Amino acid sequence: MIIGVPKEIKNNENRVALTPAGAKELVKRGHVVYVQHTAGEGSGFLDEEYVAAGAQILPTIEDTYAIAEMIMKVKEPIESEYALIKEDQLLFTYFHFASHEPLTKAMVENKSVCLAYETVEKADRSLPLLIPMSEVAGRMAVQKGANYLEKPLKGRGILLGGVPGVLPAKVLILGGGIVGTQAAWMAAGLGADVTIMDVSLQRMRYLDDVMPPNVNTMMSNEYNIRKLIKQADLIIGAVLIPGAKAPHLITRDMLKEMVPGTVLVDVAVDQGGCIETCKPTTHENPTFIIDDVVHYCVANMPGAVPYTSTLALTNATLPYAIQLADKGWKQACIDNNELKLGLNVIQGEIVYKAVADAFDMPYAMVDKYLMD
Ligand SMILES: NC(=O)c1ccc[n+]([C@@H]2O[C@H](COP(=O)([O-])OP(=O)(O)OC[C@H]3O[C@@H](n4cnc5c(N)ncnc54)[C@H](O)[C@@H]3O)[C@@H](O)[C@H]2O)c1
Repeated sequence: MIIGVPKEIKNNENRVALTPAGAKELVKRGHVVYVQHTAGEGSGFLDEEYVAAGAQILPTIEDTYAIAEMIMKVKEPIESEYALIKEDQLLFTYFHFASHEPLTKAMVENKSVCLAYETVEKADRSLPLLIPMSEVAGRMAVQKGANYLEKPLKGRGILLGGVPGVLPAKVLILGGGIVGTQAAWMAAGLGADVTIMDVSLQRMRYLDDVMPPNVNTMMSNEYNIRKLIKQADLIIGAVLIPGAKAPHLITRDMLKEMVPGTVLVDVAVDQGGCIETCKPTTHENPTFIIDDVVHYCVANMPGAVPYTSTLALTNATLPYAIQLADKGWKQACIDNNELKLGLNVIQGEIVYKAVADAFDMPYAMVDKYLMD
């Protein structure tokens, strides 16, 4: 198969969909890989490394789209890319269609095949191509929180781990899923006093088993949250209710109960946030302050660490990309239900119900494309 890897052109996106190591794996299997000039640069991968891995470099994004049967990307195509996409071309990338009507309509019109990273799903309902970014964001949440707790950045001026003779900071994590667990590991590693709140007893039993002694779990409810926020130095929002907006567990009035200089990192901001006063911010301008409480609400946290994020993402996407390249999208999706669930748009029809419902657009059963 001919595979094209364009350079990401979305503002501040430095990740790339394929590393030189990934290119080598595909080339070894007889596929032809074209990488757009400097596509890997933002993540620290030079054109020469791709060439050494057996890929070929193309000068422009137009060349890359024009030649490829499968386009591998990170972010959804942006408007200037819509016209470059060809009928029947397979696009393997994040789309997040349900929050983007113009994109959905454009992909229906160009009759491409859109396989979305975010809906590839395992039998246990986990989302293997979202997990790596949650891992990055969870670990980063503590790094950022520790930083903003410093006085010059308007925090309380407390060191997360304390020192001998001085108590460590208290970290409250709302949601003990992927983000929350990774955040807990990092905060615990730095010596903080950590509490994870979740509504799933099963999840908290697991966390209790695997976490170090400076991590405790507590049932998430308003009573407990109100009690703990009074002493928390760093609060991390990591709640997810699949397919729904995050619930506002921390409401506006609760800020008054917090110690001035408390830091809130709402990782769930991309789903509306679990802290009422959070609104999405950017890496250029990541924080704002309300009632002396520092809010960090960057919606694409992994974008700040493109080297780690690219490697984490491609570790997860490559095995699927290999199946798509080896077998073609139809056979790969017939053989692997995880990939089949990633199909969102096929040759002019929406085949993912939640996307069709989001915009009241027609929906076609995916199986009709996988019969022959
Ligand atoms: N900002 C970013 O850059 C970024 C990056 C990656 C992920 N995220 C977001 O982070 C959020 C968490 O992702 P995840 O992968 O950890 O999800 P997850 O499904 O692994 O974990 C969510 C957890 O929230 C718990 N939960 C549900 N309702 C709760 C409540 N009322 N109180 C406490 N806990 C509750 C669930 O039981 C679950 O354990 C998502 O919104 C995701 O989109 C953001």
